[in-house]
Amino acid sequence: MQNIKAPRESDSPVTSSSSTTRNMNKKKYLEQFKFPFCDESSKYEIVAKIGQGTFGEVFKARVRNTNNKKFVAMKKVSMINANEGFPITALREIKLLQQLKHENVVNLIEICQTKATLRNKYRSSLYLVFEFCEHDLAGLLSNVNVQFSLGEIKKVMKQLINGLFYIHVNNILHRDLKPANVLVAKNELLKLADFGLARAFKVAKSGQANKYTNRVVTLWYRPPELLLGNRNYGPPVDMWSADCIMAEMWTRSPIMKGSTEQQQLVEISQLCGSCTPDVWPGVESLELYNKMALPKGHKRIIKERLQRYIKDPYGCDLLDKLLQLDPAKRLDADTALNHDFFWTDPMPCELANMLAQHSQGMFEYLIPSRRPEHLQHPHRVAAAQLKPTQLTQYSGYQDRVY
Ligand SMILES: Nc1ncnc2c1ncn2[C@@H]1O[C@H](COP(=O)(O)OP(=O)(O)OP(=O)(O)O)[C@@H](O)[C@H]1O
Ligand SMILES: [Mg+2]
Repeated sequence: MQNIKAPRESDSPVTSSSSTTRNMNKKKYLEQFKFPFCDESSKYEIVAKIGQGTFGEVFKARVRNTNNKKFVAMKKVSMINANEGFPITALREIKLLQQLKHENVVNLIEICQTKATLRNKYRSSLYLVFEFCEHDLAGLLSNVNVQFSLGEIKKVMKQLINGLFYIHVNNILHRDLKPANVLVAKNELLKLADFGLARAFKVAKSGQANKYTNRVVTLWYRPPELLLGNRNYGPPVDMWSADCIMAEMWTRSPIMKGSTEQQQLVEISQLCGSCTPDVWPGVESLELYNKMALPKGHKRIIKERLQRYIKDPYGCDLLDKLLQLDPAKRLDADTALNHDFFWTDPMPCELANMLAQHSQGMFEYLIPSRRPEHLQHPHRVAAAQLKPTQLTQYSGYQDRVY
């Protein structure tokens, strides 16, 4: 366990009389103070940058001066809004990942900090240290040399939905599922990552609707209930994103690419049919139902559209059952895992051989961007859609508790 060294009484800024001495003592105090259970990040040696998220950079690193060849991923906690204190997204991620321990959820090893010195103006940075995975799914899907067989697609999706099953059973919603947040390790285990937008949920009791924010999930993976302003949502939001990812395993590019929330609804309607009370009872009572221009008269053409890519009838059927407009009709993780898609030949098969052909790590950060900058994160999308006059009032949105 970490050696906790308490600062000496004489180092304390409180005991000095003049302000200069007080300041010097404070710096010395900060330099010497060791946070309990928080090692110094210098114990790791950064090897390469592998990610640039909205909330910080991610590095591949290894333990310094040891024979330990194991890599870790270090996610630096960005303090852009330092005046607002420690970012709520990082707090959430730490708190939730400390609870979640599962082979399909990324493992948070520890939190580290840089030493407070004059160079960093006595503001130390924090790093979340994770087990390292060699690829993310966005990196793999964007590489034409990576070809998944049907059995391998089943293996990917089975692990992804298994991870979702685990977090949902533990009453956690991910709320930002997309290929870049799905990691694949060379031991072929798939891990859900990036719990910065995740939250605990409870099933609303009658008459007491939950009021979560609907401004979550990256636009292209965002379900229609969030686009229509529903704030009393649950696990089906993640199942919609999972299905968008599943389709992408064949199409190799996102299936619905709206550039605004309105356009995303149009894309959804063109594929899944119009959002009407016939197919989705209660949709008319959602907050934005009458405020958005909802496309009318569209038929559901998922199977026709995707059959071109997906020859497997069970795959098509599962996609169809997951991409249901009405969240109440969408399959949950448990039912999806029992679908014939996962239990018919070819059965889910190992990814090891396919992954062994690729020695280079494949990450979204390392490929030419697949999407406009402002679309890469739900908060950016939300901010990008506001009029310039609203932006000032809007800044700092990302750090609020939802
Ligand atoms: N444990 C890990 N092993 C390997 N790569 C990782 C790991 N964790 C994160 N990454 C890479 O870093 C990227 C960014 O990490 P993450 O999604 O956690 O950060 P973020 O700031 O929340 O990102 P964004 O704002 O884009 O959603 C991931 O898409 C992935 O490519
Ligand atoms: Mg991410």
